[in-house]
Amino acid sequence: MPVDEDCAPPVSAKLLAWYDANARTLPWRSPPGAAPPTPYRVWLSEIMLQQTTTAAVAPYYAKFLRAWPSVAALAAADDADVMREWAGLGYYARARNLLACARAVVARGGWPEDEAGLRALPGVGGYTAAAISAIAFDRRAVVVDGNVERVVARLFAVATPLPKAKRELYALADRLTPAARAGDHAQAMMDLGATICTPRTPSCPRCPLAADCAARAEGDPARYPVKPPKVAKPVRFGTAYWIEHDGAVLLERRPASGLLGGMLGMPTGEWNTISQTSSAVLAIVRHVFTHFELRLCVVVSHPATRPDTPGEWHPVATIADAGLPTLFARCAAAVLRARADAVQSPPLDLETAA
Ligand code: ADE
Repeated sequence: MPVDEDCAPPVSAKLLAWYDANARTLPWRSPPGAAPPTPYRVWLSEIMLQQTTTAAVAPYYAKFLRAWPSVAALAAADDADVMREWAGLGYYARARNLLACARAVVARGGWPEDEAGLRALPGVGGYTAAAISAIAFDRRAVVVDGNVERVVARLFAVATPLPKAKRELYALADRLTPAARAGDHAQAMMDLGATICTPRTPSCPRCPLAADCAARAEGDPARYPVKPPKVAKPVRFGTAYWIEHDGAVLLERRPASGLLGGMLGMPTGEWNTISQTSSAVLAIVRHVFTHFELRLCVVVSHPATRPDTPGEWHPVATIADAGLPTLFARCAAAVLRARADAVQSPPLDLETAA
């Protein structure tokens, strides 16, 4: 039977009972019903988990806690160290905001507990403020991420397409949120979405809310949430210059604002809509950003004298430890792979072959 106006408490009670027995064990979590982790741990995990899977986050979360076990330690860190340790996790504005937020928390003498206070911190938006308030402080807050949107859209068979449906989904999630155990409720909704109410093939027979789900009653739960038609991403082109001299390659730190802001990389020209491939291109590295696809041509040069260009020269032998974001790490890998291939199969010496 579909959810109706008066059955919110039973739905959240069923969900919490399911969570008590089935909660995922995750490094940033306390078991259901136990005292919450510190706000620092909750905040760090929630920032890392934005647009990023739990599997990708886990090693970064452990590494950050080892390097900076408290918000005060992180606030005192060198910016370049934090950017290096974040390299590979993507969405680098998060790393810049991470430092700004840690410093703001230390400056104000501790964490705010309410959503409005949390939202005022750098890099903390509505979702993250609600998640920290609920999970770290057990305050009632409506926590709606992509998993929760999917669960709610199905429970109530919301026909409005995303993103227009967001307000409606938030209001419905609000109706389901209990006054007590708000953090467990939020994480139970996330776990249900991640493990049972999955995007393509939900496992309805295992779902604790199957009897309450309007989409299941209709017979095709995967049709929700309704999404607008996909549009192809525009393509941009650019060139990454691998400039190598005396066993070192030139890297430059990108401007703080903008894509890959504050991260190290090879010099690139502008990224624009004109393809400039030429015979000098060693490889083309494709990388998908949120709003466009980039095709970056890698061009190698070995100037005889070291160019007097601003930047840092990094030994080629240890380029894997330079803290390059994935795009530039893949450019470097392409250069090194081409070099290894050339050693394995040297070019034919035509004179001797003849
Ligand atoms: N995704 C974002 N926050 C999460 C959490 N606390 N648990 C599991 N997945 C999450």
